[in-house]
Amino acid sequence: MTVARTARRQPSQLGIAYDCRQQMSAMNLMRWLQPCVAAMVVLDPQYRGVLDKMQYGNEGKQRETSRAKLPTMSEYQIALLIEQAERVLKPGSHLLLWVDKFMLAEARHLALFAYAADLKRVELFHWNKLRPGMGQRGRCRSEYLVIAQKPPISAKVWRADRRIDDSWPEASDRSLHPHAKPHQLLTRLVRLLTKQGELVVDPCAGSYSTLEVCKLTRRKFLGCDLVTPL
Ligand SMILES: C[S@@+](CC[C@H](N)C(=O)[O-])C[C@H]1O[C@@H](n2cnc3c(N)ncnc32)[C@H](O)[C@@H]1O
Repeated sequence: MTVARTARRQPSQLGIAYDCRQQMSAMNLMRWLQPCVAAMVVLDPQYRGVLDKMQYGNEGKQRETSRAKLPTMSEYQIALLIEQAERVLKPGSHLLLWVDKFMLAEARHLALFAYAADLKRVELFHWNKLRPGMGQRGRCRSEYLVIAQKPPISAKVWRADRRIDDSWPEASDRSLHPHAKPHQLLTRLVRLLTKQGELVVDPCAGSYSTLEVCKLTRRKFLGCDLVTPL
């Protein structure tokens, strides 16, 4: 018996568009991408479910309501997104994964790579948010950026920006989003790790900081957020 194969529909036919803000689920966006098309995937999921549950380093305090309202993702869902990231990345290209102190201190970020054995963690950046945070012990003003590469693994591309510092102080514009990420750091990494015209994917785009960086650096952008675009 022959099975009729239907042609795979392009994102534009599905109402998915490049270089803009759109409301949809991260997994739907990632699943519709062809393999090996992206030069970079930026993944900044909402881990707050875990953080709220564990009250890590901040026992007894209420979290800010703006953060609590954002939809969260389980670690299993994030691991499935990373599996998709591995699939859609071109060989030699990079995943940028934001993790918080809880994920890192408990080494939970490693389990997020359970379905993406080919992605090798090659770099870790520390972001100093330059604003006082909360915390019963150390006051939390840091987040971390894990950078993983799809084989072939090589550090050659980093030679173009020898001055990039892995401990990065930068205030982000929190009027845009409670979790807006540092624009200058992202710009530097996009310039370093991708080329003009290449595709950068951000399926949990929040304030669309990645879209703004892509416009500035002339990269193609594909991204979405579950929440209505700003
Ligand atoms: C940490 S924020 C991203 C912030 C962003 N990097 C920025 O610079 O503004 C995470 C975002 O993921 C979104 N989100 C949560 N679950 C999602 C899902 N299943 N699909 C798409 N977006 C989701 C939330 O609405 C939130 O805006």
